[in-house]
Amino acid sequence: MPAVPPVASKTSPTFSPNDVTVLFVLGGPGAGKGTQCARLVEDFGFTHLSAGDLLRAEQTREGSEFGALIRDCIKDGSIVPMEVTVQLLENAMKDTIAAVRGGSGGAKARFLIDGFPRKMDQAFKFEEAVCPARLVLFFDCPEDEMERRLLERGKTSGRSDDNADSIRKRFRTFVETSMPVVDHYEKEGRVIKVDATPAPDAVYRDTQAKLTKVLGDNF
Ligand code: C5P
Ligand code: MG
Repeated sequence: MPAVPPVASKTSPTFSPNDVTVLFVLGGPGAGKGTQCARLVEDFGFTHLSAGDLLRAEQTREGSEFGALIRDCIKDGSIVPMEVTVQLLENAMKDTIAAVRGGSGGAKARFLIDGFPRKMDQAFKFEEAVCPARLVLFFDCPEDEMERRLLERGKTSGRSDDNADSIRKRFRTFVETSMPVVDHYEKEGRVIKVDATPAPDAVYRDTQAKLTKVLGDNF
């Protein structure tokens, strides 16, 4: 990726919502976004793109100019400059669509964009330069439950940010920087909110019911 990612200067979207359905998936760290996305992929044929996973891959990619920057932000629970993340997502969407066209083709592409947008500038840039989003799926979970899950995951995840110090910083970033994004979309009537406190099966039943109620078959 060039030092100034091309999306930085783009002012019209690469994809039309007529061809591509985008659902943003938000929720605090440990709310269960990835777990629920994996199930939605199986039942609805979404492609799951996790912004955090794409950043971690870019961090370790040989020759990346952004490796050190991404590493510092992740450890610190702060938000990576938006051009980097938006560009990684656009690249991944293009790759996915090219792969599908090379295969069976025809069907409308559907993406779950997980852990994104975490800051208002990411939201604006993505919708301006990549694709307008259809909805936000928001997994709502109390901090003490998220902390419990993250510390449990930290025993085996190998993630540099699944420790008590980073978790505290990530919660703070979520409240101060990411919740305003949820509030913004809520005001526009584009949020589906799901209580993510129960066990994964129950959360998924609720998610599925709410999603099909709002989207029907038309997405
Ligand atoms: O979603 P996940 O917990 O995997 O994200 C890990 C980290 O990646 C975040 O704490 C943040 O530092 C970075 N990130 C970001 N912008 C996003 C998603 C993740 O800066 N949209
Ligand atoms: Mg995740």
